[in-house]
Amino acid sequence: MPIEDRGDAYLITHAMAKDTLSRLRDVETEQVGFRKGLVKLGRLCGYEIIDGRMETEYVAIETPLEETMGERVKGLEDVVIINVLRAATPFVEGLLKAFPRARQGVISASRDEHAGRDDSGRFPITVDYVKLPEIRPEDTVIVADPMLATGSTMCAVLEHVIETAPDPEHLIVLSAVSAPDGLLRVGEEFPEVDLLTVAIDDYLDDDGYIVPGLGDAGDRAFRTT
Ligand code: URA
Repeated sequence: MPIEDRGDAYLITHAMAKDTLSRLRDVETEQVGFRKGLVKLGRLCGYEIIDGRMETEYVAIETPLEETMGERVKGLEDVVIINVLRAATPFVEGLLKAFPRARQGVISASRDEHAGRDDSGRFPITVDYVKLPEIRPEDTVIVADPMLATGSTMCAVLEHVIETAPDPEHLIVLSAVSAPDGLLRVGEEFPEVDLLTVAIDDYLDDDGYIVPGLGDAGDRAFRTT
């Protein structure tokens, strides 16, 4: 089964997704390998979403030899991908290979790491920029962020998305690595969301990093510190 129900989330279990994530986790994977790995993982996840969440329909096709029936994926035009800046950028590049006609939105949201976590373990979130396309009821909306840690950023992002699109056909949050706390929080605050991830890791450290995780995905992809 390509997408497995794990209670708090659905796990993408494709062998190449697991292989690619293991390379991303490796501290020896340098910037170019890391960025390419995120692109590859985005593409693989995109195909798994098509396989596990979208329908196909039979269509008549004329081959060079005769008429036959073929199967086509329905609704590939009705996809919106939301890039949560900045670590999602290479991940979204990969998703676009699976959904080349997707409309795209961008949300810049980041946690204030200097302020630290509050008593409930949450970081204050600043949302600097929101640009969303029209989102229609028939759309599959994929909100992409490779790391779902405390869930603070994702909850802030989802508030904006739901304000624009109260009831799309599918509302998917896609991450590469998730922490149990983040999944729980997003699941509780947004029960309508379909949470898809490649791995559910063990815990968050005091700085809000996922352990074992893969470090800071943005820094590793963009070679910043
Ligand atoms: N963001 C990251 O890039 N890594 C983490 O572990 C948590 C949030």
